[in-house]
Amino acid sequence: MAVKFELIKECKQTKARLGRLHTPHGIINTPVFMPVGTQATVKTMTPEELKDIGAEIILSNTYHLYLRPGSKLIREAGGLHKFMNWDRPILTDSGGFQVFSLGPLRKITEDGVEFRSHLDGSKHFMTPELATEVQMDLGSTIAMAFDECAPYPCTFEYAREALERTTRWAERCKKAHNRMDQALFGIVQGGMYRELREQSARELVELDFPGYAIGGLSVGEPKPLMYEVLDYTTPLLPADKPRYLMGVGSPDCIIEGVIRGVDMFDCVLPTRIARNGTAMTSGGKVVIRNAVYARDFTPLDHECDCYTCRNYSRAYIRHLFKAEEILALRLVTIHNLYFLLRLMEHLRKAIAEDCVPEFRKRFFEKYGYDGE
Ligand code: GUN
Ligand code: ZN
Repeated sequence: MAVKFELIKECKQTKARLGRLHTPHGIINTPVFMPVGTQATVKTMTPEELKDIGAEIILSNTYHLYLRPGSKLIREAGGLHKFMNWDRPILTDSGGFQVFSLGPLRKITEDGVEFRSHLDGSKHFMTPELATEVQMDLGSTIAMAFDECAPYPCTFEYAREALERTTRWAERCKKAHNRMDQALFGIVQGGMYRELREQSARELVELDFPGYAIGGLSVGEPKPLMYEVLDYTTPLLPADKPRYLMGVGSPDCIIEGVIRGVDMFDCVLPTRIARNGTAMTSGGKVVIRNAVYARDFTPLDHECDCYTCRNYSRAYIRHLFKAEEILALRLVTIHNLYFLLRLMEHLRKAIAEDCVPEFRKRFFEKYGYDGE
């Protein structure tokens, strides 16, 4: 088996778990946050910088790399790790979600999804077999099954069809998958319907994957509804396998997810908002372009000891944004990723010390509840 999950400790007061995921590219301490490198790069960051801030695994996208530069080219380069100079674990999303986000550009059939490239309009047909082959060519540490993510809101009937197709596709991915040094995870769907989440989890667990993702969340539903779905979905998954909540990465959702037994998270949020000038700090979000920071010579976050906070002021970073200087994007990206990776470290410590509810309370008192 390519990956092995070691469950170190379960929280006494919540469903939070402390673990270690052993992979051919090294060990991942869970709960973990995975920075997103859609195009085989975490925007603005070198792999050395990612390692310096403690990133243990990154995520990349099958859909984007398949279209450009092409998975055969990456295979020729020696695989995605070598191509992008990152030797730690990489998880690749299957492209299911990206293809479904294309809206009118795609058509779903039992065999797969016909879509047009967002780059040049060219026609393609993605199938579970192709998504698996592409990920085997990339040589990612963890590959994801090709799934259908139902939109929100959607009817029970629609969500059921999407989840049943997702199970059939997961089975096809598993048949097509033959890289012993790569793990293939299944993805639970079922919309916001308890009965459907139960069906999806039951069918996927039957197929016996080395890890399970919870998909189809953070698709526009209110946060309390997402928490409710997590409440009943994580207990359906085997305790000895890692659980990955896809596309979720705001600090509040990470904490609520960990408390409900999630081990892995990814999201473009920290890196995306960094590039439009929003820093995540211990006191909540800081929109650095605001005039109030023009003469603020303190760091982004007085509690942070990242490279950015050790060396630069809010006033300086604000100036860089106003002047449209590239360094602005790098400095806030470094800080936001550092902030989230530290949050995960604090959560792991809180689980080890059985003080997760206290940690949660303290965090929200300072950070506040943000709307996203
Ligand atoms: N990223 C966020 N949500 C999803 C999902 O439901 N499926 C996949 N494949 N990726 C996601
Ligand atoms: Zn910082």
